[in-house]
Amino acid sequence: MINANPEVEFCHGDIGSERKPLMPCTIVIFGASGDLTARKLIPAFYHLFKDKQMPPSFRVIGFARREKTDASWRAELRAALDQFSRTKPVDDKVWHAFAENLSYCQGDLTDEAAYQKLEAQLTSFGSGPLRENILFYLAVSPSQFGDVVEQIHHTGLLNKESTGWQRIVVEKPFGHDLASAHALNRELTRYAHEQQVFRIDHYLGKETVQNILMFRFSNSIFEKLWNRNSVDHVQITVSEKLGVGERGGYYEEAGALRDMVQNHMLQVLSLIAMEPPVSLEAEAVRDEKVKLLKSIRALSAADVAKQIVRGQYFAGNVGGDPRPGYRQETKVKPDSNVETYVAMKLLIDNWRWSGVPFYLRTGKNLPLSASEVRIQFRPTPNVLFAAQCGNNLDANALTLRLQPDEGISLRFNGKIPGTTLGARPVRMNFSYNTEFGAYTPEAYERLLLEAIAGDATLFIRRDEVETAWQIVDSIRAGWEGKALTNREFYAAGTWGPIAADDLLSQLGHTWHEPQAIK
Ligand SMILES: NC(=O)c1ccc[n+]([C@@H]2O[C@H](COP(=O)([O-])OP(=O)(O)OC[C@H]3O[C@@H](n4cnc5c(N)ncnc54)[C@H](OP(=O)(O)O)[C@@H]3O)[C@@H](O)[C@H]2O)c1
Repeated sequence: MINANPEVEFCHGDIGSERKPLMPCTIVIFGASGDLTARKLIPAFYHLFKDKQMPPSFRVIGFARREKTDASWRAELRAALDQFSRTKPVDDKVWHAFAENLSYCQGDLTDEAAYQKLEAQLTSFGSGPLRENILFYLAVSPSQFGDVVEQIHHTGLLNKESTGWQRIVVEKPFGHDLASAHALNRELTRYAHEQQVFRIDHYLGKETVQNILMFRFSNSIFEKLWNRNSVDHVQITVSEKLGVGERGGYYEEAGALRDMVQNHMLQVLSLIAMEPPVSLEAEAVRDEKVKLLKSIRALSAADVAKQIVRGQYFAGNVGGDPRPGYRQETKVKPDSNVETYVAMKLLIDNWRWSGVPFYLRTGKNLPLSASEVRIQFRPTPNVLFAAQCGNNLDANALTLRLQPDEGISLRFNGKIPGTTLGARPVRMNFSYNTEFGAYTPEAYERLLLEAIAGDATLFIRRDEVETAWQIVDSIRAGWEGKALTNREFYAAGTWGPIAADDLLSQLGHTWHEPQAIK
């Protein structure tokens, strides 16, 4: 890249660490005929290949039950790529060069003979790194993880003490409560070391989420303010404009708490609030994230009643688009108490954050889709401008916009020009697109590359998953057997139930509404 401004020195590469050259490897995708493979995985590998980021030599083997040939699988993937690629049109020449590396292995996940076929395909690549270095991507149901891991172990494909490397990538959901997450983790680590297991939360692949660490720990002016002395409270909002739509069946089992809070929101919270890690090594970063999650104050049933708000949408309209109520959605029980919205106040019992409320909220059928973190600073003493400016004098706030219109803005007071002493909040705004141009790799591209490189920083460790489930389980226990009350329903297209506003008003706070992208 040309540095247009010679006074500005760029720091290139990974955050603080040089990536080692990638070794040749084979990627085995279990669930190769599924939605995830077509929509996310193959487009991500294609773009990595196009951008010359794949290892110098690689193969992708797709494993699934349906009958297919190499040619028919490639043709299906090509059609999907035309639909889902982030760059269009798909480059034919690049696709053909990429597709030569793809082959299909038909079989059932429970059938030993199918793994012999897989082994034979891998062995046909020779005895070198394409046979030894294997990334197993489990794009199948979590209930099938145990079978796959056992079979690849018995076939000699997964070796704890191998000369090459073998890694297993798994997708959420990582269980549906602590006990099931525990059981799943036990199955995964029966034949593999924890270091070989890469748990994906695609939120961590987003540039803006990764930028939280850079922002916090490379800017001294903010780091000094990042504690209870200066911060009044923190708000994390992940709002979704869509309702549950066709996913009613899934949502009845999940709900907003399991679907969004257990993973994405607690991940963002831990990055925002954790202590500086001793290095950017995976274990150092993950140690700090776990420490933070463990310092969230435990919630008794009485705390849940006071600090956690559920919500469920009834019929309304979002931006003029009429939406049915949740209980009228397909595959949803007419008297369902499943939450489509959750808001909470969490307290972190450590030196830095003692007494600072962290408010989290997420919901469906809200007015717009946006994710942001707002750091609300304490106000100044109300002595100098109170008479002239009254309530117009704002406390400073820093907003990290994770999506859309990714960027950061700082709100402070400016004097309104003129002969009187009027004030108005104004913003300093940094926008990713304006500053760096549109750079929009999919989160999966970054994550797949890290998995191939063996860097687990952006993946979730076993104890992180389990600690997050502990928090979520205590909330669910508090809700057990309690029906939703009137104050917990909200009309589709509004910012959630009244109870969520009450939660903040207890301490004189109000929710900050994310801005619609212009
Ligand atoms: N789709 C997403 O965007 C997304 C996002 C986050 C997480 N996930 C998770 O990723 C996993 C896969 O999701 P998906 O949406 O791709 O599911 P999907 O479309 O239902 O695909 C499932 C895949 O598993 C294969 N499969 C199922 N049983 C099998 C068996 N006995 N033997 C061999 N292959 C078998 C299917 O192959 P056949 O149909 O050929 O039998 C198919 O390729 C799930 O755990 C999901 O929760 C998905």
